[in-house]
Amino acid sequence: MEMKTLTVDLGDRSYPIFIGQNLLLNSELIQRHIAGTEVLVVSNETVAPLYMEALLSSLQGKRVETVILPDGECYKNLEVLNQIFDTLLGKHLSRKVTLIALGGGVVGDMAGFAAACYQRGVAFIQIPTTLLSQVDSSVGGKTGVNHPQGKNMIGAFHQPQCVIADTNTLDTLDDKQLSAGVAEVIKYGLINDESFFAWIESNIEKLLARDPGALAYAIERSCQNKAQIVSDDEREGGVRALLNLGHTFGHAIETGMGYGEYLHGEAVAVGMLMAADLSMRLGWISERDVQRIDDLIDRSGLPTRAPLAMTRERFLSLMSVDKKVQDGQLRLVLMRRFGEAILSESFSHDLLCETLDAHHAVSSKASVTS
Ligand SMILES: NC(=O)c1ccc[n+]([C@@H]2O[C@H](COP(=O)([O-])OP(=O)(O)OC[C@H]3O[C@@H](n4cnc5c(N)ncnc54)[C@H](O)[C@@H]3O)[C@@H](O)[C@H]2O)c1
Ligand SMILES: [Zn+2]
Repeated sequence: MEMKTLTVDLGDRSYPIFIGQNLLLNSELIQRHIAGTEVLVVSNETVAPLYMEALLSSLQGKRVETVILPDGECYKNLEVLNQIFDTLLGKHLSRKVTLIALGGGVVGDMAGFAAACYQRGVAFIQIPTTLLSQVDSSVGGKTGVNHPQGKNMIGAFHQPQCVIADTNTLDTLDDKQLSAGVAEVIKYGLINDESFFAWIESNIEKLLARDPGALAYAIERSCQNKAQIVSDDEREGGVRALLNLGHTFGHAIETGMGYGEYLHGEAVAVGMLMAADLSMRLGWISERDVQRIDDLIDRSGLPTRAPLAMTRERFLSLMSVDKKVQDGQLRLVLMRRFGEAILSESFSHDLLCETLDAHHAVSSKASVTS
């Protein structure tokens, strides 16, 4: 399979996304995007033993330092972020340094944020190694860390030099993590690509079996969707908010259960179903549409219900700190019709409560219990 190249079109900050096999070993490709001689690779204690050696072999000729973070969403905070700054300063790395994020979305968000802040901004490269990070978090320049009171609340926009998605790295990912990535793939179908949703319905078994062709296609089409939306609205003044389908509910689950209990993609899967449920109550999509989404999420090995501990009250209080709250008004990404998302505040509090109650009451299908 040959390498695919896409472009995130952002004027003079445009950058390429490369998707293909064995890209970690493609020294020429990687070094082409490093301007200076100094490199700091940021990884974690799970990914580094698997892929650091291959990456280092591709960085020969550069002055390379590494920093290995602890693994987990619960370490995506300012304290752990400081380890990156300690290394940058301790090793006397200059403004010419290029940071390379080698890992999933947690490493990518943290390394990207460190690059945005260090000496007011240095270059960085994303080498995402989870399906979720290859289809979503590595593209678009959102970086940051969590705060105890809200996910991704401390951060910056900072675009990478390039994104290098080596599909071979997905071979070592566990099934649960793969499914979590599929949730974000499904998301693109629901936002504005109904034919992609149908493709996923037909190919979900292949994706879960890690068929290289199916994975490469899903990553490419997801990145195309994301790149288009980011190009149209880099700073989320409008259409980019649609990428948060399922995320307001999902973030509440992640924060409410403690970071790491529910995987991000699992929480988003439940959240998308809650958004679909509310859209149905508004009369925008049919019960059959909701069932179709429920079926695909279920077949993907993802939970379809929120944990019991997430009561209506818990949801409401956690959702009130969401970034999409404006002037005290909660706005949600809903489905205007099947395959077309819209940011809306035209739902009543009562209707929202019906959705919240419906989704935490039935817990039998949840794969993770509290
Ligand atoms: N910046 C954005 O636009 C954006 C978008 C979506 C999600 N996110 C963020 O991304 C994070 C979730 O990313 P994630 O799902 O990649 O989680 P993650 O980074 O925690 O990775 C999941 C797990 O897989 C391990 N892992 C990574 N690559 C592996 C590999 N190749 N083989 C074996 N194990 C591997 C990790 O060490 C970790 O244990 C969340 O913090 C979320 O907020 C950011
Ligand atoms: Zn997400």
